[in-house]
Amino acid sequence: MSREQVFALLSAQSGEFLSGEDISAQLGISRAAVWKAVDALRRDGYTIEAQTGLGYRLTDSPDALTERELRRYLGGTETVGKTLYCFESIDSTNSFLKRAAAEGAPNGAVAVADEQTAGRGRRGRSFSSGAGRGVYLSALLRPRLSPKKVLPLTALGAVAACNAVERACGVRPQIKWTNDLVLNGKKLSGTLTELSLEGESGALDYAVIGIGVNCNNAREDFPPELRDIATSLCLETGRRVCRAALAAALIEELDGLYAALQGGDTAAYLAAYRRDCLTLGREVQLLWQDAREKVMALDVDEQFGLVVRHEDGRVETVRTGEVSVRGLYGYVE
Ligand code: BTN
Repeated sequence: MSREQVFALLSAQSGEFLSGEDISAQLGISRAAVWKAVDALRRDGYTIEAQTGLGYRLTDSPDALTERELRRYLGGTETVGKTLYCFESIDSTNSFLKRAAAEGAPNGAVAVADEQTAGRGRRGRSFSSGAGRGVYLSALLRPRLSPKKVLPLTALGAVAACNAVERACGVRPQIKWTNDLVLNGKKLSGTLTELSLEGESGALDYAVIGIGVNCNNAREDFPPELRDIATSLCLETGRRVCRAALAAALIEELDGLYAALQGGDTAAYLAAYRRDCLTLGREVQLLWQDAREKVMALDVDEQFGLVVRHEDGRVETVRTGEVSVRGLYGYVE
């Protein structure tokens, strides 16, 4: 406990010294207890300078997705992130939250992991989730809405993720329908949304939205088959990402998104989606089970369906499945 209190005091000093005497007086603990707390914080990866006559100052923090680091960056949220589960390693933050939801975890609970050993992507694929590289984050939402009203969540989540990346890292990715984030033509992030419905009534029990963002990966950190397709923020900007700041921004954005969804006020998200969607106006291949068909992507409708024109002139709205965009991820023909 005194470790957290000492951390809070040092962190509030913004790199200035605070004497051991002041700390012990403010917290009502002995000088020896202050020293023990400082030692424990150093073992957690913090750099704390000690100088005779001046005291202690915090000069560097670890790139860690701990609750302590996340709360440093997290502003006040209404719903999302009030409960935080932080893991060094977990199978999948989505899978964890589904288990927690079954045991009654609260609306807005968030799981964040430094590493996922069984990270999951859409359509049963795996999601590469190496330790210390990315942000792997899921939120449990229990909106009082019908399943139909919650379906756009996965597309809206892409806008929330773009907002968070822009705020934390100064670059705005584009969106490949439905929810890949793309930076300079390569995949930066993916979202997996899972819904649980009550069997009897068909009512929504909960939704888990999980977002994975590649942050500090080098090219070799990706499996060979992904190296020409995937990228990380660090590879594209040349700067290391403070993952806790990005995770906090994601939580804040998901909180705003939850409020908008619950209030039925998602027009701004749709406008941002249409603006950032790189699929629009391009030739794409629809991937139907085993079949492939070339079409032109025209628009995104209010339910985030992709409006396409077939080669015979028919216009149709596609609501499920996936598309390849010509010129992206190595698709040229
Ligand atoms: C995709 O691109 O196919 C979706 C990838 C979604 C990955 C995230 S990482 C956090 C959460 N936990 C998971 O197992 N998957 C999602």
